[in-house]
Amino acid sequence: MSKSVITLVLIIFSVFTNAQNWSDKEISTLQKFSLKALKPSVDTSNKYHDNQQAIAFGKALFFDKRLSSDGKISCSSCHDDKYAFTDNRKLAFGTRQGFRNTSTLLNVGSQDWFFADGAKDSLWSQALSSIENPAEQNFTRTELLHLIFEDVNYRNVYQRIVKKELTKEEIENLPEKAGPNSSLENLIAWKKLDKEQRQQINTVFTNAGKAIAAYVATIKSSESRFDNFVDELADKKTSTLLNDSEQRGLKLFMSKESGCANCHSGPLFSNKTFHDISTGIPGKDNGRSEVIESIIRDEFNCLGKYSDAKPEECDELKYINRDKHQLTGSYKTSTLRNIIDTAPYMHDGRFETLYEVINHYLEKSQEKPKKNDLTPIELNKEQQLDLVNFLLTL
Ligand code: HEC
Ligand code: HEC
Repeated sequence: MSKSVITLVLIIFSVFTNAQNWSDKEISTLQKFSLKALKPSVDTSNKYHDNQQAIAFGKALFFDKRLSSDGKISCSSCHDDKYAFTDNRKLAFGTRQGFRNTSTLLNVGSQDWFFADGAKDSLWSQALSSIENPAEQNFTRTELLHLIFEDVNYRNVYQRIVKKELTKEEIENLPEKAGPNSSLENLIAWKKLDKEQRQQINTVFTNAGKAIAAYVATIKSSESRFDNFVDELADKKTSTLLNDSEQRGLKLFMSKESGCANCHSGPLFSNKTFHDISTGIPGKDNGRSEVIESIIRDEFNCLGKYSDAKPEECDELKYINRDKHQLTGSYKTSTLRNIIDTAPYMHDGRFETLYEVINHYLEKSQEKPKKNDLTPIELNKEQQLDLVNFLLTL
């Protein structure tokens, strides 16, 4: 048969097998991507994870601008619910210019690793790093202690949650500003403290982080048009809740032809692990490979003394992939939920539109010799449009 006959047969075939036909097997696969399949988040390293008082306290801290060196930045400055808990910027801007695009916090409690390179293994250690990050809140842990002690509401709720009093003697002698992760001055003040004092400070600091984490874990997406479609499909075997183009885009997304669902799988549309899709910037940002050692050394990791987890509950950390060569240029597979509100895209916000993202895949998947984790794909203009229309249903 000539090439044109084959094409004709394929076109006729595709008209008759329109996108509204979904087999039982396909439907059951789709159900694994539905929000209903998302398991409740657990964090055994945080004993306050489900504590309602801690959630309320954490929420107050999340919105409190006093937790910053200039009194102007809170978590919510960058994670704004107007933009699916991002900031609508290419790169974050806190107390100064950052170098990464702000991630959404929707469903983040169900992730295993936090940040684009997964530099943190729990939501609470993540929160602590934002508070002290010189480009985010640039606060110190002793400042936070003083703040909690001096604000009577905070002090009372803190004491109720941890069931231990903060005594005046404990707090009064501490320097106003001290911490290991900021200016030289603050670092020197931190080094001057004795081990016991540092542990005392770290305990209050981590408890505050755990309260923030307990709140952040409650931030979830509501069901999308895609989820409603899957529900109706499971029920009636057919549904028009997504239009033809969106359904074709969904089929394509799930297919080997696009390969998208190899990495963007499950209810978050993310396999939660790290891949090289040629977005690394050699010499400047190599992603996952650069943070492995600091995760293992981190005093606030799952195996550390401030964690509430038993060692056997820290498998993610214990069996961490240490193959730096393989991980160079790798980033966490982004969730695709609420993608319409999370632009610009990728860890450095390099793309403004989903078409640019797809174009990146078309180009980088063809690279020879193969330099990344992508398999070659080719999509025509209509397929690209369908794919984007589908992504917008999430
Ligand atoms: C200056 C802006 C800014 C502030 C302030 C900020 N963040 Fe972020 N947040 C970011 C950026 C940028 C990223 C992505 C960084 C990266 O990937 O390396 C991020 C990532 C995260 C993540 C990881 C998401 C994921 O999927 O991996 C969580 C959770 C988070 N922030 C929570 C918080 C909390 C809690 C606070 C307050 C204690 C906070 N952030 C303060 C900008 C900010
Ligand atoms: C080999 C794994 C892999 C495959 C296959 C893959 N992706 Fe990705 N995707 C990723 C990773 C990793 C990132 C994050 C990269 C970064 O931040 O630099 C990402 C990011 C994205 C983003 C940006 C999300 C955001 O909020 O920034 C979109 C959109 C996206 N992918 C869509 C797709 C589509 C559509 C396909 C199929 C054509 C696809 N991906 C195939 C791993 C993959």
